[in-house]
Amino acid sequence: MFQKIVKSLAYILVSLLATTAGAKQYPTKAITLIVPFASTGPSDTTARILAQFMSFSLKQKIVIENISGTGGTIGAARAAQSAPDGYTLFVHHIGHATAPAFYPELSYDPIKDFEPIGLINDGAQTFVSRADFPAKDFEEFVAYIKANKGKVSMANAGTGSASHLCGLLFQEAIQTEVATVQFSGTGPAMRDLLSGRIDVMCDQTTNTTPHIKSGKIKAYAVTTPKRIGILPDVPTADEAGLPNFEISVWHALYAPKGTPKPIIDQLTKALQAALQNNILKLRYADLGAEAVSQDRATPEALRAHLQSEIDRWGPIIRKAGVYAN
Ligand code: MLT
Repeated sequence: MFQKIVKSLAYILVSLLATTAGAKQYPTKAITLIVPFASTGPSDTTARILAQFMSFSLKQKIVIENISGTGGTIGAARAAQSAPDGYTLFVHHIGHATAPAFYPELSYDPIKDFEPIGLINDGAQTFVSRADFPAKDFEEFVAYIKANKGKVSMANAGTGSASHLCGLLFQEAIQTEVATVQFSGTGPAMRDLLSGRIDVMCDQTTNTTPHIKSGKIKAYAVTTPKRIGILPDVPTADEAGLPNFEISVWHALYAPKGTPKPIIDQLTKALQAALQNNILKLRYADLGAEAVSQDRATPEALRAHLQSEIDRWGPIIRKAGVYAN
């Protein structure tokens, strides 16, 4: 009997040491960060900037894997099914909260199948058009779309993407349909906007800002309650004639459910260290995004925010009319 007790105590001690050692050594190899949209889009840009700074404190490479399709849900499903060992992480935005409303048969649960690590940044979307679109302000932008019902091509990154959500609410607000064109991300969509193959888009400033400033596309309004510093001359949608039209696109970092807490703690610390870095803050700010404060870069803050966004957007999306394509 005595021997049995000693043996089981020894086992507990060894497994405790192994776990602690494992967590202490983590990470011992490169980490994969899944981005659920194509490269060069706003989610990809957000993730690559974050990965660069998180890898400093983790002392390991973070490799981006773009897994696009169906508005980010294919990448999310892959992340949910990944091994919970700390070597697969996942970045997503507001689309993680709206997915259950757009996809009632979703193969994963945005809350139950993930370990939240923390929020990353907040950003605005911009209504933009190809350079030669026949509108000089938001009023003419809307008038032209209304006068050409169903003919103006509007890009998005798939049903449930942030660009789709903006387009959906915009069509509801002006009670006019556009011709929706879906892409694997708004990075590829931007290429078609720049070439004039696509007429308009509602996309995040992290993708649109450089092209607005170079004059290669035109901006008409931002979707945040206040104007943003890097585009001071672009009015808010509310100012421009779409009362209370507000969408702020937030990005966050997750791991698969079951990832051990010591590893989640290490990743949270690395996220917080990255978000405190002034160069990271400037990189995001130059693109119109704002790194979140430390109190929001925590699992608890993200869990609460994600749940509140699921609760907020579900009824709005389910009420949406014919435009929810
Ligand atoms: C979106 O529309 O959800 C994003 O802009 C997609 C992307 O990051 O490409």
